[in-house]
Amino acid sequence: VARQKRTTKSLAQRIDVNYLQRPHPFRRWRMICAIAVPSVALLWGGGVALGKHSRPASPGPVSASHAVFGSRCEVCHQSRAGFFHREVKDDKCLACHDGPVHHATQAFTPACASCHTEHRAAMRLASVGDADCVRCHAQLTVRSGRPQFEPAIRNFVGGHPEFRATRAGFRDPGTIKLNHKVHMKPGLKGPNGPVDMQCDDCHRAQGDDRPWPYAGPVTTPTSAQVVPAALTGSIPPHPRPGARMSPIQYKQQCAACHTLQFDRRFNQEAPHDTPDVIHRFLLQKYSDYIAQHPGEVRSTGLNLQRIPQQASPVIARNRDEWIQLRVAEAETLLWQKTCKECHQLRAQQGGLPAVAKSSIPARWFLHANFDHRSHRMLDCLSCHARAASSEETSDVLLPGIAVCQRCHRSQQSPGDNFAEARCFECHSYHNWKDAKPTKGRYTLPQLLGE
Ligand code: HEC
Ligand code: HEC
Ligand code: HEC
Ligand code: HEC
Ligand code: HEC
Ligand code: HEC
Ligand code: HEC
Ligand code: HEC
Ligand code: HEC
Ligand code: HEC
Repeated sequence: VARQKRTTKSLAQRIDVNYLQRPHPFRRWRMICAIAVPSVALLWGGGVALGKHSRPASPGPVSASHAVFGSRCEVCHQSRAGFFHREVKDDKCLACHDGPVHHATQAFTPACASCHTEHRAAMRLASVGDADCVRCHAQLTVRSGRPQFEPAIRNFVGGHPEFRATRAGFRDPGTIKLNHKVHMKPGLKGPNGPVDMQCDDCHRAQGDDRPWPYAGPVTTPTSAQVVPAALTGSIPPHPRPGARMSPIQYKQQCAACHTLQFDRRFNQEAPHDTPDVIHRFLLQKYSDYIAQHPGEVRSTGLNLQRIPQQASPVIARNRDEWIQLRVAEAETLLWQKTCKECHQLRAQQGGLPAVAKSSIPARWFLHANFDHRSHRMLDCLSCHARAASSEETSDVLLPGIAVCQRCHRSQQSPGDNFAEARCFECHSYHNWKDAKPTKGRYTLPQLLGE
């Protein structure tokens, strides 16, 4: 379910929900007094009933976000014939902001107030208890058919399934070949001598604007190099910048070491683009070249690497044949060596090869939120332990639930120091994508009771 932005303010408001429920000497005395002086209470109650607003004393301050109209009981409470009602109907809440439904398939829709319990001092209302989720998730049912998700979840430690992506048998769907182990080897051949690659040479949080150390030369695209939509596939934005890693892009993370040179005649590389664009680029390059150097019709290719399956070089009889031969050589080199190092190419009958979609997942957890920034105090290998030794793209390098449970556990006793482990920490309830805009309906005097 889509997530809404969390702000520092809202995170700072995570205060113990049950504070007012715990035994406390002051509250005990208040209770005793209330029982010992019933007549006073009775008088007071009668006074209220006859009073202009017909309301009891507030059972406690409302949450921080609602504090400004906390004394305006009727903004939330129903009043019938001028009498106060404890009941709070959803439409009162919906007058100020939406709370879009969780799943269309859910068996019933709980009332807003059943999860967002008020009058418990300045806590964050959205910090709902596990019981609010577990009432459905302990035995999940849907309107019709069977649920697609694990039907019995009770709490995060002990009663929660392993994450889908780290269950046995799940494979990384990416097709770009990448051997992490090779690249993490100290003294790797870099563009200007040996280098020790670091994780952050390839992976950085989005919004980190430092230049990439192994980026390719900055080129202004010519009309022949217009980037096809395939290369600019949009990545869904995360509500908080820096939560996610920047996507891997050949130009930013690979280009300086894995160049796309094809012929020493040119100090230009082939564009990193579809075979079709590259084909047109090569035709243009060689046509221009032979027009400027007509004497070279009998020359052969000056390729940087040995061309696969090439017998002895063929000598062209005319310019057109020279162009054809050179383009064919360059393409054999690119498709069968250069591109193939990283890509899966599929030969197509009588034409250019097709490059498999890269499919590097932009998000692994589609049903939970994760934020790298909240965990930046840890080193990468604490969670991605296999990253330094992995040799195959298909390896899944993500942490399993046990890693999270080291820190995210519920408080068993007051002295326990753990990170939050209630469901809302990692999951959204509302499907915010479906949120409807709210039209303000209160005037200042109405809201402030002036
Ligand atoms: C921001 C909305 C909001 C405002 C403002 C508000 N309340 Fe409430 N109140 C609630 C909600 C939500 C509940 C829980 C209702 C439920 O359980 O169905 C509640 C419950 C109550 C209850 C029942 C408590 C219990 O333990 O059963 C009383 C009494 C009450 N409110 C009094 C007041 C009074 C008096 C005021 C004005 C001074 C007030 N409320 C203002 C939201 C509000
Ligand atoms: C008079 C307008 C108004 C009413 C009525 C109202 N709210 Fe709010 N609510 C706000 C405002 C303003 C904020 C703070 C801005 C924001 O987060 O949208 C807020 C914030 C919240 C938040 C997020 C902040 C937090 O503490 O987690 C929740 C959850 C929430 N309201 C639930 C409710 C529920 C449930 C009701 C009905 C019982 C309700 N609201 C009634 C105006 C209102
Ligand atoms: C099953 C429990 C549950 C019910 C029922 C529920 N909510 Fe929520 N609500 C949550 C949780 C959990 C969050 C925090 C995660 C999220 O944004 O989905 C939240 C968040 C919110 C927020 C925004 C918090 C923020 O950070 O800005 C608002 C506003 C809100 N709810 C209003 C409502 C309204 C209005 C209703 C009734 C129509 C309602 N909720 C019903 C559990 C619930
Ligand atoms: C009224 C019952 C109900 C409540 C209450 C409820 N859920 Fe759900 N939840 C469902 C249903 C139904 C599905 C979808 C099941 C399906 O289609 O297979 C679902 C799916 C999910 C999923 C997986 C799909 C997704 O949305 O990403 C998560 C995670 C989830 N719920 C978390 C929560 C959390 C956290 C809470 C408490 C704030 C909560 N649920 C409260 C009924 C509920
Ligand atoms: C060093 C590794 C590397 C080499 C060599 C390489 N690429 Fe790529 N290529 C990538 C990466 C990483 C991506 C995915 C991100 C991006 O778009 O840059 C990609 C994406 C692509 C895509 C888009 C695929 C999609 O998802 O639709 C095409 C087309 C492509 N490359 C063509 C080529 C061609 C043709 C060659 C040879 C001339 C080549 N690449 C050489 C790493 C490489
Ligand atoms: C600092 C230079 C450098 C960068 C940056 C770099 N590589 Fe490499 N890569 C190398 C070297 C050197 C080798 C050959 C290592 C060997 O065989 O020992 C290599 C080998 C490979 C291989 C073959 C691995 C194998 O199993 O033999 C692939 C595939 C590859 N790189 C993909 C990529 C991709 C994709 C990127 C960008 C995300 C990238 N490389 C970035 C230097 C680099
Ligand atoms: C607390 C554990 C944790 C730490 C520490 C951590 N990661 Fe992650 N990482 C994750 C999780 C969980 C995901 C899956 C997130 C998702 O898809 O929603 C992930 C995803 C990724 C991805 C896949 C792309 C993405 O954004 O989902 C890359 C790349 C990555 N991490 C690199 C790193 C690097 C580099 C570091 C060190 C700077 C690091 N991680 C530190 C837990 C961690
Ligand atoms: C510390 C983070 C965290 C907490 C706390 C947490 N979850 Fe999850 N949960 C996850 C992650 C991560 C996934 C994997 C999401 C995915 O595969 O897209 C997940 C998956 C799920 C799913 C989908 C299961 C499936 O079949 O794939 C449901 C439903 C769910 N959680 C409900 C809950 C409920 C209910 C609670 C509270 C009792 C809870 N979660 C607490 C992190 C958490
Ligand atoms: C040469 C560039 C490069 C370096 C250095 C590098 N990675 Fe990656 N990483 C990639 C590429 C490309 C992918 C996508 C292909 C794949 O999934 O293997 C990737 C994928 C990942 C993923 C996604 C999850 C997965 O299962 O594939 C994680 C997590 C990750 N890397 C962590 C790390 C960590 C931690 C380090 C440092 C120890 C690191 N990487 C170093 C290029 C690099
Ligand atoms: C070093 C202990 C540690 C580990 C391991 C850890 N976390 Fe956290 N996590 C934290 C701390 C500390 C916070 C920030 C405090 C807070 O918001 O409760 C946090 C916050 C979060 C948040 C809220 C992020 C936000 O700011 O909105 C999510 C979601 C989360 N962790 C999920 C995970 C998942 C999933 C894993 C396992 C892959 C994991 N964490 C592993 C300590 C840890």
